[in-house]
Amino acid sequence: MMIDYDRYDRIRAVQWQGDALRLLDQRVLPLRTEFVTCTSADDVALAIRNLTVRGAPAIGIAAAYGVALAARAAADAVTGQVPADALRAAFAALRASRPTAVNLFWALDRMARVLGDITSADRLAHEAIAIEREDLAANRHMGELGAALIDANSGVLTHCNTGSLATAGFGTALGVIRAAYAQGKLARVFNTETRPWLQGTRLTAWELLTDGIPAKLIADAAAAHLMSTGAVQWVVVGADRIAANGDTANKIGTLQLAVVARHFGAKLMVVAPSSTVDMAMPNGREIHIELREPRELLEHAGQRVAAAGVDAWNPVFDVVPAALIDAIVTERGVIERPDQTKMLRMFGNA
Ligand code: MRU
Repeated sequence: MMIDYDRYDRIRAVQWQGDALRLLDQRVLPLRTEFVTCTSADDVALAIRNLTVRGAPAIGIAAAYGVALAARAAADAVTGQVPADALRAAFAALRASRPTAVNLFWALDRMARVLGDITSADRLAHEAIAIEREDLAANRHMGELGAALIDANSGVLTHCNTGSLATAGFGTALGVIRAAYAQGKLARVFNTETRPWLQGTRLTAWELLTDGIPAKLIADAAAAHLMSTGAVQWVVVGADRIAANGDTANKIGTLQLAVVARHFGAKLMVVAPSSTVDMAMPNGREIHIELREPRELLEHAGQRVAAAGVDAWNPVFDVVPAALIDAIVTERGVIERPDQTKMLRMFGNA
């Protein structure tokens, strides 16, 4: 069934302008629509670190454009050629921006392969554009593959933000929800607030509203109660890194949703492009989980709410064991009840 992308794919968070990268500032959405303009790789690295741009595929795309910006700056004025050495610092800054989402490293490795010893700045820009276009195409394909798993009259729950804001467009898990809604299959859509950074409250709820998809925001802590009522048939989430055995790192709180879903008979669907698969990572235990500042928990809207002296632990991702996942949807196809053998069959060795 054809999906009306004019309705369901309207937001672009990462905008390449040829000589700069324009980012929709996700720190201030939805109350303010502002853009940050990056003109160097360092600008892009900072924007990734401070979450101006976020979401695994989006940070990979932004990093690729960061390399393109560095290449423009370093290119020979006559030939347009850039030696690999001139981009070393740019690659290093971008690689150090965030640790968990493998899409960042995947995109930088792909740019490095194009670079070789020397190439033109234009060639690097074209590679970044290709990475962005392929991500959009993958999302639209995954939307159809994932929606096909959902029965009519179902309820879905999603976590964090996996929509246009987190990708080149349309989204991964949110793309599946968009496609399933467009097909008239969804009776109920819920999304979590996603503490502490509120990607759900601020970003996903806004994307759903923008599309005219009726949805209800729930407190993270309401998820178990919601699922105990039988209102949710599928929990649909994205991923930051999928290991070779199917273990999946995603936004903190995904693990408790997975446990609760299994307990109450709801299914868990992980939706991510193949650029999120890390076959060099044998299992989820070894995935580097980003720790962010305690401040994100101790403050609310920039205002301290915890007593002075209170400390906090703020891991922002967790790992769902493959055994709790019912389906992994990538643009290459669907793996039901993932394990190492099925992953290897679809993705090959690292
Ligand atoms: O810290 P964030 O907002 O970058 O985390 C984002 C997530 O965990 C998403 O669920 C994941 O990156 C998939 S986005 C398509």
